[in-house]
Amino acid sequence: MTGGIAAYKTCELVSRLVKAGYGVKVVMTEHAKEFVTPLTFETLSKNAVIGDMFAPKPHFEVEHVSLAKWAGVYVIAPATANVIAKIASGVADDMLTTSFMATEAVRIVCPAMNTVMYNDEATKKNLALLKERGVLVVEPGTGRLACGDVGVGRMEEPAAIFEQIDRILTPNPDFRGKRVLVTAGGTTEDIDGVRYIGNRSSGKMGAAIAEAVIRRGGEVTFVYGSISVPVPEKVKAVHVTSTQDMYDAVLKEMEDCDVVIKSAAPADYRVKQKFDSKIKSETLTLELVKNPDIAQAVGERKGNRILVAFAAETNDLIKNAAQKLLKKNADLIVANDVTEKGAGFNSDTNIVTLLYGDGRIESLPIMPKTELADTILDAVQSL
Ligand code: PMT
Repeated sequence: MTGGIAAYKTCELVSRLVKAGYGVKVVMTEHAKEFVTPLTFETLSKNAVIGDMFAPKPHFEVEHVSLAKWAGVYVIAPATANVIAKIASGVADDMLTTSFMATEAVRIVCPAMNTVMYNDEATKKNLALLKERGVLVVEPGTGRLACGDVGVGRMEEPAAIFEQIDRILTPNPDFRGKRVLVTAGGTTEDIDGVRYIGNRSSGKMGAAIAEAVIRRGGEVTFVYGSISVPVPEKVKAVHVTSTQDMYDAVLKEMEDCDVVIKSAAPADYRVKQKFDSKIKSETLTLELVKNPDIAQAVGERKGNRILVAFAAETNDLIKNAAQKLLKKNADLIVANDVTEKGAGFNSDTNIVTLLYGDGRIESLPIMPKTELADTILDAVQSL
């Protein structure tokens, strides 16, 4: 933000972006702070406002560069004639101009100024130069300006600027308005004070699905057990340990969801008798009891929700997966033969066959889990 009366409109723009789930960091010039206080933007964006190049930081980082790398879109709204001139001629003398120059994000400028200043040859040339360099200029509207003049120069309305940003960051918003519950990773079952039963699920498949839903404009509740990848950003994250924990979390969280995707690998058994301290006997026999089937419980209560379950098989892939489709009352089964190279646990790729409730079967080639995530979401949309 630079110093212009249109700064009040930027409050609405930030609010819209945050409501749509985007992360927003506000950079204010010293002049911008004369119009609206940083506190307003800290409250709206839920992030500290950035302004002072040389303020002491809790961790060392070159802030104008890290900020430039963080952004997917860099918007200057409002953009004064002065700042437009600076960025057009390569002046970088504060946090805003340095980070704008350092970013590889899509750059947007929303001019706001008096009509005469906007029509001035220098401003026209500077804006033309910025456009030539790939900066997107959101042209100002015409009407009564704050100075009382009537003409061009009013910063475009926040809704229109939001739409431009949204279109760039979410080109395919087909999951907008949908809340998707994704389970990921393995659950663990305690044996004693230090040991547990677990499996090799890394959570890569579930995380890829969660990220794809977010990219497509949806909201995600991410119920995860033991995983070796970071929890995706912008999700409602619920951490669980045992299969019973995951069962409780999924049944509670599914209430607010339209789609449930069960990519986790819950432990099918738990020990009948758990020991608090470390077992030290020479030999050990564990009696295991069956855990509840979470997907089946979802299938029994799903109502209008869509249920996607996985099937991790080592033999008779289609036969076993078809049985799971029926038993769990699923709409779609993603079946992987986990003995195949490049498929199943912990790999970055997967090889799956999709079994639809209407009998269709679609075998897919090996592909990255990130790409498969989108293919699964396309299949959900086709149901
Ligand atoms: O996490 P990654 O390393 O990326 O690996 C991905 C994966 C191999 C874990 C994934 O592709 C996969 O196959 N997930 C399902 C693993 C599994 O538990 O499959 P299953 O055939 O045992 O179970 C069938 C379905 O029932 C699954 O959707 C599973 O989540 C669900 N289930 C299983 C047991 C249980 N007690 N409750 C369940 O809901």
